[in-house]
This record gives sequence, structure tokens and C-alpha cells, in this order.
Amino acid sequence: MKVLVTGAKGMLGTDMVDVLSGEHRVIGVDIGEVDITDARATETLIFEAEPQIVVHTAAYTDVDGCESNIRHAYRVNAIGTRNIALACRKVGAAMLYVSTDFVFDGVKREPYLERDRPNPLNVYGFSKYAGEQFVASLLAEHYIIRTAWLYGENGKNFVTTMMRLADEQGKLKVVDDQFGSPTYTVDVALAVARLIATGKYGIYHMVNTGQVSWCGFARKVLELSGRHRVPVKPISSEQLSRPAIRPAYSVLQNSALELTIGVTIRLWETALEDFIGN
Ligand SMILES: NC(=O)c1ccc[n+]([C@@H]2O[C@H](COP(=O)([O-])OP(=O)(O)OC[C@H]3O[C@@H](n4cnc5c(N)ncnc54)[C@H](OP(=O)(O)O)[C@@H]3O)[C@@H](O)[C@H]2O)c1
Repeated sequence: MKVLVTGAKGMLGTDMVDVLSGEHRVIGVDIGEVDITDARATETLIFEAEPQIVVHTAAYTDVDGCESNIRHAYRVNAIGTRNIALACRKVGAAMLYVSTDFVFDGVKREPYLERDRPNPLNVYGFSKYAGEQFVASLLAEHYIIRTAWLYGENGKNFVTTMMRLADEQGKLKVVDDQFGSPTYTVDVALAVARLIATGKYGIYHMVNTGQVSWCGFARKVLELSGRHRVPVKPISSEQLSRPAIRPAYSVLQNSALELTIGVTIRLWETALEDFIGN
């Protein structure tokens, strides 16, 4: 297939281009090529590229920044996504939209399924959910994937931040009352490659299997990177006091992926070991 990947210079987008290039003709674009908030430029780009599918990873991903830049969050994450969906509809391309665990409110105490009702708590989550709704209402041939707590080689992320802070400060304080699914970008890209080959459109959760708190995640990072002597003090979200409220529990279960296309994604600890070992 001819695949157009947006956000190609981002953390997930870089691995997406790498992985999909193994099987497809991939065109990667980022804000240097097109600003997705510009409807006409987005349409022109997609018309000229003539992709069979657009894998849309571009987003305004600064969760706390979204709280003070509400208009920008909506322009990029909701309207930008709408622009892509409309252009896909015009050229007859399918679309895969990357959404987030932050569409959920975290009230549940067992993993969220695709059929659970979103109820975002912060501006980022609202803007990404608005993007989902545009995609679902404008384009029949769509996949919406929800992933979470990403880390990878090509972006600022929790894993590398914890290792750096451990080296700089010799001790860490990490939130212990938010639970989620740490996920390696390469594993998402591999699952996307499997999914887009099926034509089985719909909503899919796509995370590494298992769950942990940020504090437990940090401890595992230190253990696997030979920094197990660095003490990690658990703190509450209230003590950290960040602008955006985060869901206390946003663990996702990949049930559609497993049931519909028979793909399982490895345990988060195994993926993390792989990432740190490389
Ligand atoms: N990171 C996570 O933990 C996480 C969790 C769940 C879901 N997601 C979703 O996964 C996707 C990838 O996340 P990521 O962390 O890899 O993101 P990222 O590293 O921030 O990459 C996003 C890319 O989109 C580009 N971009 C921003 N505004 C744009 C615009 N107006 N037009 C065109 N491109 C624009 C960014 O360019 P600049 O850098 O120049 O702004 C960047 O290259 C996003 O859709 C995100 O919502 C992420």
C-alpha cells in the first residue's frame, strides 16, 4: 500500500515510518511539510500523495500545555484530525487515528475495553476524543487506536527522564496513585502494521500487556538499567500538583485486537527490557 504517516518526526511517528516501510511505500510528513490545522494545505498534500491509508500520529501532545492553550489543542488534535478525515474521504483513502487512554476518566478499577464510554478529565483528553468523533462520523473506513504511556528512541519520555534524573539527583519522587499501561512505540507500530493489513475497521486498544503505577514503572526502569540503588519515594498526584488532571486508572485491554485479528502484544516489562537493553 501507499501509506502517508503524519507526525513522522515524532516519537511514535518515527518508529511507525520505520516499521511500515518494511512492507509498504511510506511517505512521512511532519509540520515542516504541512500544518494539519490548514485545511487546504492538508487536502492538497493528501491529493498529491494519493495514499491508500493515512496513519495519523501528529498531535499537540503536551498534556499540561493543553490546559493553558485550549484553542491550540482543539485546532491541532480535533480540527487537524477533521481536516485529515475530510481529505481522506475525498481521495477515497482509509485513515488510522492514534488516540489515547486519557479519553477515559479512570473511575473504573479494571482495564478499559473499547466499548467503555469515554469521559475525559483534561483538555488534551477532550481534544483527542473530539478527534475520534470527527473520524468516526466523517469516514467509514477508519481505525481508531488508543495507546498509552508511550516511550521510544525518538522523543522525550518517562523512561529516559527517570534515568537522567536518577543520575543527576541520586533519588526520585514518583506518583504512586495513577495506574496505566507503559507501552513501547515499536510494539504499537508492529501492531498497526498487522491491523492495517486486515481492513477490519473499528476501535482498537493497543498497549503493552499489564499494568503498573508511575512509581512502579520508575522502579522497573532503574532496576533494568542498573540503577537499582537509587531510592524512589512514592508520592501522591496531589503532592505533584500538575495543571492537567490525570485519570487515576487508565489501564487498557487490547480485547478487539486479540478477538478480531488474533494479535497479542507482549508484557510491558519485556518490552521495557528490550528498549533499555538496546
Ligand atoms: N506520548 C504518549 O504517551 C501518548 C499516549 C497516548 C497517545 N498518544 C498519541 O500518540 C501520538 C504520537 O504521540 P508522540 O508522543 O509520539 O507525539 P510527539 O512525539 O509529540 O509527535 C507529534 C508530532 O506531531 C507534530 N505536530 C504537532 N502539531 C502539528 C501540526 N499542527 N501539524 C503537523 N504536525 C504537527 C509534532 O511536531 P513538533 O514536535 O514540531 O510540534 C511532532 O513531530 C499522538 O497522536 C498522541 O496523542 C501519545
